[in-house]
This record gives sequence, C-alpha cells and structure tokens, in this order.
Amino acid sequence: MKIALISPNRNNLQEMKRALEAGSHSVMLIDGGKSKMRAVAEQEQPDLLLVEGMCCDPNELGQVEYVTTHHPKVAVILLCATHTPEFLINSMRAGVREVLPSPASSGALEAAVNRVAAKLAGVHARSPGKIFAFIPCKGGSGATFLATNLGYQLAESRTVLLIDLNLQFGDALSFVHDGKPASTLADVAHDISRLDASFLAASTVKVAPNYSILAAPEDPAQAMEIKPEHIDAILNLAVTQYDFILLDTGRTLDTLSIRALDRAYRIFPVLQAGLPYLRNASKLLAVCKSLGYPIDKIELIINRFEKSGEIGLDAIRRSLGTISLHTVPNSYKEVNASINHGNPLIETARSNAVTRNLAEFALSLSPKQEESRSLFGRLFKRA
Ligand SMILES: Nc1ncnc2c1ncn2[C@@H]1O[C@H](COP(=O)(O)OP(=O)(O)O)[C@@H](O)[C@H]1O
Ligand SMILES: [Mg+2]
Repeated sequence: MKIALISPNRNNLQEMKRALEAGSHSVMLIDGGKSKMRAVAEQEQPDLLLVEGMCCDPNELGQVEYVTTHHPKVAVILLCATHTPEFLINSMRAGVREVLPSPASSGALEAAVNRVAAKLAGVHARSPGKIFAFIPCKGGSGATFLATNLGYQLAESRTVLLIDLNLQFGDALSFVHDGKPASTLADVAHDISRLDASFLAASTVKVAPNYSILAAPEDPAQAMEIKPEHIDAILNLAVTQYDFILLDTGRTLDTLSIRALDRAYRIFPVLQAGLPYLRNASKLLAVCKSLGYPIDKIELIINRFEKSGEIGLDAIRRSLGTISLHTVPNSYKEVNASINHGNPLIETARSNAVTRNLAEFALSLSPKQEESRSLFGRLFKRA
C-alpha cells in the first residue's frame, strides 16, 4: 500500500516509517501539521493517510471531511495522544477509519494498516451497501414482517444487516429468530467509541449465514441513550460491511428516524388498502416531500392486498398521486404461524404466495444478482 504519514514530530515519523516499511509498504513522510492533508491527498493519492496531532478540536475535522469526501479512495487514520468520546464520534462522522493512540505501538499500527488493506481489497470488488427503510403507515401494517422476511430472502445471495429502530418496543428479531439477543443497539450506542467492524458484527444476532440483526433495546428505558449521531456512525460503518442494510424504523418520526431516512437509498412506507392507512400514507408522503426527498426515493408497499377488495390500485393512486407501488398478497394463517414460531416464512411455507412475492421483490432490489444471472445466461447461451 502507498502510505503517507503527516506529523509535526520527526522522531515519530521515522519510527512509524520503520514499522511500516517492515510490512513492505511504500511510505512517504511529511513533516508538518494537518493543513498539509489536502495537498498530499490531491498530489500523492495515497491509499492511506496517517495524520498525527489533531485530537481535541472537533472543528479541525473539517479538513479531514474535505479529504474523505473529495478523495473517497484515500483512507484516513488519526493518531491522537488524548481524545474525548465526542471527538471519536465526530471523527467517524467525518469518515475517519480509526483513531489510534499516539505514539502508536508498531503492533497497533500494523493491525490498523492491515485492516485498511483488507478493506481496500474488498472495496475494489464491491460498492457501498444500500439502505432500505420500512415505515408502517399505521401500527400493524406489516412493516416488521416484510422487512425481516425480505432480509432473509436477500441474504440468500447478499450480505444483509437489519437494524431495529423501534427503540422502545422493537420486536423484529422475534419474527425470524427464537431467542433473546445477547447485545442490542443500546449496547453499541453505549460503547460507541469501540465501534468497528468486529464490534458491530459481535453485537448482532446471526439469524442466517449472511443475515444479521441488530436488535432493539430489551429495556425501553435504554432507548433514551441512543442518539442520531450513533445511528450515523453505525450506518457509515454498516455500508462498508453489508450489501443491504434494512431499517425497521417504526412509526415515530423524530430526529433519529429522520436521520436514518435521510440516509436511505429507498423508503418503503407499508400500508394496507383501507382509508385510515391511506390518510396516514398521505401525511407521510407530505413529510417526505417537505424533507426534500425525491419521489423516486419512495415506493409504497400495499400489504395484504386483495384484488377483489373495496379499494383498488386506481383508487390508491387517485388518493396518493403517481408513485411506485408494490403489492403483497394476504395470507393470514401462514404469515401468523411463521411470526408466532419465530420462523421465516420461506422456511415454513416455501410455496406460499407471500414467499414468492418477496422472492421476486428481493430480485428486483438486488440488480447485481440480476446482472450475474443475465451474465450467466449469456455465457450459457454462448456455450
Ligand atoms: N401479507 C400478510 N398477510 C397476512 N397477514 C399479514 C401480512 N403481513 C403482516 N401480517 C399480519 O400483520 C401483523 C402485523 O405485522 P407487523 O409486521 O408487526 O406490522 P408493523 O410492523 O407494521 O406494525 C402480523 O402479526 C401479521 O399477522
Ligand atoms: Mg413493527
């Protein structure tokens, strides 16, 4: 890897150079302060920029953010003698990979550099994960059922993390898993300064080989501890680790859920074909509009839809305007049995109409999957 080291301390520069060159990296030393970051990133385009000596003033992170935004391929690690938890969170938000103690031991330095190298190998192969948010327009719409079960199907070919943002009474895990979580979103928020890929993975429940769930707090009181900046830091990391991040956002629109919706690639309001649902959907769409979300960021899911029902798709469109719609059929008995047993529907009712609907939906959301299938198709034809 090409590594640039910036530090006002010449001794530290030489020490780090020795340690890194032992790992056969190409190392360049820049004697000075963080004001050199931008020029070094622009002119040298290193894989990794190690910057020593900015620790206390969160305002200095503006320069880091400039580099991580304009040169996303340059990984930034900060070396700090002392720092506060706020500084750590702000660093994560500014796109810093890690904050190491200064002076760093050669072991710590090597481990951090290896993590960047491993990620670099992965980053070239995959783009950042997509965030999908599911919001029930009214309690009982089916948002949690659909998000958890769609996750299960997406995870057949991709890596998926579902985060339960129903902070007080979240129950998403129980829809597809029988058992309590060892750790929850509250634990991650509580220990946010430890946040890295392995801590995040260890805090989730693996419900299938490629499917992890970060459960809501067990105790509603712990929900108070979770702040929008925690969600930001978790999502920043999650998109580097998973292909899809599904958010079960719950019904409360507050700073925290709006922060999550801002980050979503697509928002799926879930409703049923009934007047109370339509009224709430209309309010939710107005909120999305006032937040400046483009209309193609939103796709309505009409759950438990029956063609013979009193309110059809035309009536829904008349009421809510032109918007993408996906319908999911009604299957009360089998859906309920799956939820009551904590088993994904595909495991208990493979040929059920809802299972098949979610399989098609998953395919439409995972174009890479389609690409590889069509590539496979082309190769197959040619052969
Ligand atoms: N497609 C469906 N067919 C039949 N029943 C469904 C379907 N989707 C959801 N349900 C029922 O709706 C109930 C509420 O679902 P849930 O996901 O908890 O809603 P929300 O998260 O929107 O409050 C579930 O317990 C289930 O019985
Ligand atoms: Mg729910």
